[in-house]
Amino acid sequence: MKLGLPGIEGRRALVTGGSRGIGRAIAGMLAEAGAEVWLTAREQSRADEVAAGLVRAGAQARGVALDLSDSGGASQQIEALARETKADGGIPLVVHNAGMTRDGLLMRMTLEQWEEVLRANLTGAYLVTKWLVPGMIRARYGRIVVVSSVVARMGNPGQSNYAASKAGLLGFVRSVAREVGGRGVTVNAVAPGYIDTDMTRSLPAAAREKLLELVPLGRLGQPEDVAAAVGFLLSEAAGYITGEVLDVNGGMDM
Ligand SMILES: NC(=O)c1ccc[n+]([C@@H]2O[C@H](COP(=O)([O-])OP(=O)(O)OC[C@H]3O[C@@H](n4cnc5c(N)ncnc54)[C@H](OP(=O)(O)O)[C@@H]3O)[C@@H](O)[C@H]2O)c1
Repeated sequence: MKLGLPGIEGRRALVTGGSRGIGRAIAGMLAEAGAEVWLTAREQSRADEVAAGLVRAGAQARGVALDLSDSGGASQQIEALARETKADGGIPLVVHNAGMTRDGLLMRMTLEQWEEVLRANLTGAYLVTKWLVPGMIRARYGRIVVVSSVVARMGNPGQSNYAASKAGLLGFVRSVAREVGGRGVTVNAVAPGYIDTDMTRSLPAAAREKLLELVPLGRLGQPEDVAAAVGFLLSEAAGYITGEVLDVNGGMDM
């Protein structure tokens, strides 16, 4: 399916965690819609490999190494991207998709498990937005989308750290949307349900079956289902939508 998304073609886009799963599908969707795609992975070689695949398919793409487990280092790297692109339009389309889980019941959860997840999922959004939004404000145009989760609202035993990080993103998005709305910049979230990626493949078969019973559409989501929603929010068609959360969960929470 060729996507006709106004305002994507010819624009530069950054997708964090673009090497696998949902992020990879978002990068592919943006490449197909004609964006210049910069995608991140923790290892440069992995980011380069995925970017090379997009280039072979005829897109403009670049791999960027970004490890959010070190917030200070990541901050410097993203600031450098902002500096590098300052003279030629910045990065007007930004998707903070990188995310991780370190599950455990609260009473056994270590401080390290808690902080690691908050750093990647929530501090990561702060860092990419803080450094890249000034370029959008200068250009009076920008789109920021963060990938939250259905568990931000529903909660999930064993995921207090993850659910807190994903709920934190919703407050973050609404606050920044109010700060930058007057400058032509929109800030939104998508909240996927259970999507078929590495993150959910480790679930035992019985747990997957049980989850499916909660989904009126009767299937796990595919990364492309989420990418389509992100594409819409990044497009000019969504220009009057900001501070919003778009659920992509097959109806499991409505
Ligand atoms: N799958 C689901 O059911 C589901 C549901 C709701 C929300 N989500 C959210 O959707 C997003 C993508 O999930 P996914 O299922 O596609 O996950 P995935 O297949 O595990 O991919 C995760 C991506 O994030 C990157 N990443 C992980 N930890 C990182 C860190 N510390 N620093 C920088 N990059 C890091 C990974 O890079 P490497 O390749 O370098 O590891 C990879 O590109 C996440 O934010 C997740 O929380 C997923």
